[in-house]
Order: sequence, then C-alpha cells, then structure tokens
Amino acid sequence: MRHTKTALLGLAIGLIAVLPAAAQEEANTERLPPKAVSFSFEGPFGTYDRGALQRGYQVYKEVCAACHSADHLAFHNLMEEGGPGFTEAEVRALAAQARVPAGPDEQGNTTDEKGQPLMRPATLADYFPKPFANEEAARANNGGALPPDLSMIVKAREGGPEYVYSILTGFHEDPPAGFKVVDGKYYNPYFEGRNISMPPPLVANGVTYSDGTKATIDQEAHDVTTFLTWAAEPKMEDRKRMGFGVLIFLIALAGVLFAAYRKVWKDAH
Ligand code: HEC
Repeated sequence: MRHTKTALLGLAIGLIAVLPAAAQEEANTERLPPKAVSFSFEGPFGTYDRGALQRGYQVYKEVCAACHSADHLAFHNLMEEGGPGFTEAEVRALAAQARVPAGPDEQGNTTDEKGQPLMRPATLADYFPKPFANEEAARANNGGALPPDLSMIVKAREGGPEYVYSILTGFHEDPPAGFKVVDGKYYNPYFEGRNISMPPPLVANGVTYSDGTKATIDQEAHDVTTFLTWAAEPKMEDRKRMGFGVLIFLIALAGVLFAAYRKVWKDAH
C-alpha cells in the first residue's frame, strides 16, 4: 500500500514536471487557428466583390502562378456570370498574354531545334498554363516541396479562405524561443508544423492595381483569397440565390397548407 502511494506520488510529480514541457513542445509546432478575417462572400447573402476578384486574378497571375497551377480554370471562366466579370475583349487580351504548349507544327514537331516545347498564345478555350512540366520539375524548383494546385485549395483545407489568408499573411513573425526553423524553410505558425517551404510570396506593392487600390500585403492576400474562393466555388452566388428562392417557396407553401387545413377543419365542425 505504502509502495503504491509512493509510486503514485512519484508518477504525479513526474507528470507535473513533464507535462508543461510536452505541452510547450506541442504548442510550438501545432498550427494556430486561422485569423478571423471577413469577406464579402460570407453569410447567406454574401456575393463576391468583383473588384477583389479582378485584383485577385492579377495577384494569382503575377505572383502565385510562378509556382502554383490552377488546373480547373480556363480563360473563358473569367467572363462567366458570378465570376470576376471581365468582358470578353478583356479576357481575350489576358489569354493572349499567356503562352501554352502548341500542337505539332506542319512537320509534326512539338519542340523547337533546342528541344524547347513549341508555344502559342492562349485562347478563351485554354486552361491556365502550368508553371512546371511535371511534379519532379515542380519539386526540384521548390526545395523538394510540391506547391499544391490552387484551384480547389480553399475547399480542400479546413478553415478555407481564412486559412489561405492566414498562410499568406503569416510570415515575418518571430518564432518562439527554442523553435527550430528548418534550413531552407520559413516560419509560418498557420501552417502545420510551422515550417513552410514557400518563401513569403507577397510584398507591399508587389503588384500595381489598375483601379488605384493600395497594394498592401493584407490587400493582396485578401484579393487573391477571394479569387481562389471563387475558383473553388464558381457557382456560389447561384447556389445562394436558389437557396433563398426555395426558402421563400417553402414559406409560401406552408401558408397555403395552413389556410387549406383551417378551411377543411372549419367545414368539418
Ligand atoms: C516560389 C514559389 C511559390 C510562390 C511564388 C507561391 N507559392 Fe504557395 N507554396 C509553394 C510551395 C513550395 C508550397 C508547399 C509548402 C510546403 O509544403 O511546405 C506552397 C504552399 C502554399 C499553400 C499551403 C498549402 C497547403 O498545403 O496547405 C498555400 C495556401 C499557398 N502556397 C498559396 C499561395 C498563393 C496564394 C500564392 C500567391 C500569392 C503563392 N502560394 C505563391 C511555393 C510558392
């Protein structure tokens, strides 16, 4: 009995000594919950801010597209209802700036004399060009890490838009004492493990917005997150409108049924 007591006491003291250290260890590498940030598209009536979508496309194209693909997106999506609202002429011009692999030329070649793939300007029907030919090339250029495709990232990660926004604005924080930032990686407390292989992609004035919006890191992150949310859920506005219509219909139907019920029972008495 005595021994058990001593053993228990010892165990308790041991735990008290070890637990805080373990918790601290845990706290150091576990990701923080995403920042609370609000977006125009939240809530049952939220819609995408067209300006943010257009600016977000610019950030994606000029910054993120150097490393991340967005496989699901084609240029013509940029002029679809519920999207960034570019005109057809604008989208044609945007597509023409991009280069995509060309089909075989008249001699059946798909590469030039230097072995480089033949390229042509993109058209409305083309999907966004990919930054790397394959996964090996993508990893080789990113210290072994794979930049994930961004078209569904907002849906694929817990925290959605807030998560993406937090990652983008989560650099430049000092790691807690004793935290080891892995060589070639960056401290980002919103990423699992807190060591991320992506160099901080956004800098103030990294893009020049044509609508005169000031390009702070926060603004760029907010805009590109709006764009990526639309990419992952292009029919959101439709869905919300439809949901609201169904709700109105159900309320009206309930009213009619109730009136009918009253009438039937009034006559029955
Ligand atoms: C220089 C290349 C590079 C650029 C530019 C870049 N990224 Fe990344 N990104 C990466 C790599 C590599 C990873 C994978 C990180 C890892 O696994 O540690 C990553 C990871 C991410 C993640 C986390 C994904 C996850 O798995 O949870 C998000 C979100 C992200 N990038 C968004 C963006 C956005 C938005 C932009 C443009 C503003 C951008 N990135 C620009 C290389 C880049």
